Amino acid sequence: MQEKSVFLPIAEAYDRWSPSYDAYDNPMVRGASLVVERLGPALRGKSVFEFGCGTGRNLLAAKALGATQAAGCDLSSGMLAQARQRGPSLRLFQHDMAQPLPLDAGSFDCALFCLTLEHMSELVPPLAEAKRLLAPSGRIEIIEIHPYVSLGGVAAHFRLGQETVHMPTFAHGFCDYLNACAALGLFVTACREWRPMDFGDAATGKMLKRGADCPLLVQFTLQA
Ligand SMILES: C[S@@+](CC[C@H](N)C(=O)[O-])C[C@H]1O[C@@H](n2cnc3c(N)ncnc32)[C@H](O)[C@@H]1O
Repeated sequence: MQEKSVFLPIAEAYDRWSPSYDAYDNPMVRGASLVVERLGPALRGKSVFEFGCGTGRNLLAAKALGATQAAGCDLSSGMLAQARQRGPSLRLFQHDMAQPLPLDAGSFDCALFCLTLEHMSELVPPLAEAKRLLAPSGRIEIIEIHPYVSLGGVAAHFRLGQETVHMPTFAHGFCDYLNACAALGLFVTACREWRPMDFGDAATGKMLKRGADCPLLVQFTLQA
């Protein structure tokens, strides 16, 4: 049978992906969860808000790591339905991350972006909202596809039966992140390039596809 490629708006694409998203063998999703696991000390005893929280897998991981409160927003009702089912105690909003949230300023210790900024044409609006939500000495954690890879054409997509589903994505270079931070008065307190070899035996075959030392993900820690 002939394979088909379809291009869908974000919410519709993720609604379709939602039932299989967590089980899908995706190297970026797997790598990002290994990075989130390493956020342990930064999350223990803290409140966390995730922009584009999807199925809630990172929020549940944050709670398992000791976060006191976990909340998030997402555009896709399908992804949020998965999150509600898995984590009934999660506080979830169906909301566009580029728009102001109905939450008080200064109400979270950590704002997390994990594999979501590739869907935003502009980085300033979601980062501005993350900064507004931060409590004093709070931090923003960004974990995204590494610019080497995304500028090379790798972007979110998935297969569903005979179809490959694509959706709007925007490759961001290091300048895009740094200029957004500069515009908002956010300081980069740490930046790490994650390579498959950094994950040892946990690196899957798909993560190793471009080589053990080819950067897969980038992580920025920001403070106001
Ligand atoms: C690759 S998934 C990542 C989900 C989750 N952060 C994770 O690591 O599993 C990207 C998510 O971003 C959400 N998303 C994309 N654009 C968004 C927007 N403008 N506002 C809110 N959520 C958005 C999608 O619906 C999807 O759930």
